[in-house]
Amino acid sequence: MRVGILTAGGDCPGLNAVIRAAGRKLLREGHEPVGLLRGYRGLAHQEHRSLDHEALSGLLPMGGTILSTSSYDPFRHDDGPALVRAAMERCDVDAVIAIGGEHTMEITRELHAQLGLPVVGVPKTIDNDIVGTDRTFGFDTAVHVATEAIDRLHSTAQSHDRVMVVEVMGRNAGWIAVTAGIAGGADGILVPEVDIPVEQIASTIRQRHDRGKDFSIIVVSEGARLAFEDGSSKKVRANETTDEYGYERLGGIGAALAQELEAATGYETRVVVLGHIQRGGTPTATDRVLATRYGVAAAEAVMAEHYGTMVALRGSEIVPIPLAEVVGVKGVDLRLLELATTFF
Ligand code: F6P
Repeated sequence: MRVGILTAGGDCPGLNAVIRAAGRKLLREGHEPVGLLRGYRGLAHQEHRSLDHEALSGLLPMGGTILSTSSYDPFRHDDGPALVRAAMERCDVDAVIAIGGEHTMEITRELHAQLGLPVVGVPKTIDNDIVGTDRTFGFDTAVHVATEAIDRLHSTAQSHDRVMVVEVMGRNAGWIAVTAGIAGGADGILVPEVDIPVEQIASTIRQRHDRGKDFSIIVVSEGARLAFEDGSSKKVRANETTDEYGYERLGGIGAALAQELEAATGYETRVVVLGHIQRGGTPTATDRVLATRYGVAAAEAVMAEHYGTMVALRGSEIVPIPLAEVVGVKGVDLRLLELATTFF
């Protein structure tokens, strides 16, 4: 079989490890992996590259994706479905492994349902918000980066008696904020799933001062709302534009929150936005192993013709689940947030 492999949506640590694992497994079983460039654009527009042993070596520690990525959605282009159909009729590839996030899984589900594309999905994102899997690869690395940043901010915050607001990514799920917040010992965590009033955070900071702790670290998820005790709340975005597919560009809540906290407490408050640093660079060992397991499982699912599925982590097993079940956003486990509050 000729099996197309593509990476779509935002990049994420571990993409190359999945490409390597799926490609090497396919080669070992006598099949031919082919790289489709820039997500589904490569399938539609016949932009391919060979994935031989040479191309698949040295990839485990590499950040980004050797196949490049884009959010190209065939259903949002008039000629998209026809181009995908033509690729199938020409037998450009016999099957596709699509590595991507929530939007990519939605496209993949529809390409399978509407056009019969023989496809298997692999759940990628630092946000860990894909329904149906316990964990996405890339998340561990992002949490690691955010935790290290929080650790570093502790010493400078302490030296200057400052409040530090750390804005992390995660879109509309608070997984990175809560997990890095627990690991880094944050004094307050704000997530999109729950509105926590500014006054409550300010009171926590004041109580710390009363106990002799003259600094505080507050972690805020980019999708969290600025909320107040009178019940009002608003989404804050520094950049009000959307991307070419209508997805909101998030970010900006950190600065707004810092301003409110400084006004409410009188303590100097600074903001640090971690941004794409969380997404770049080498994956952690945990992400490399998860990515490798996903890649091999995706190749096995293709060879077994388990199409229309996504490989998912369920407990300690990787299993193919129907893409039809992969709908919506998986919010953070609020028990973790509850756990974090023990230390505020
Ligand atoms: O989904 C991954 C992610 O990094 C989000 O956490 C973030 O909101 C978004 O992508 C940023 O996307 P872009 O790089 O397109 O601005």
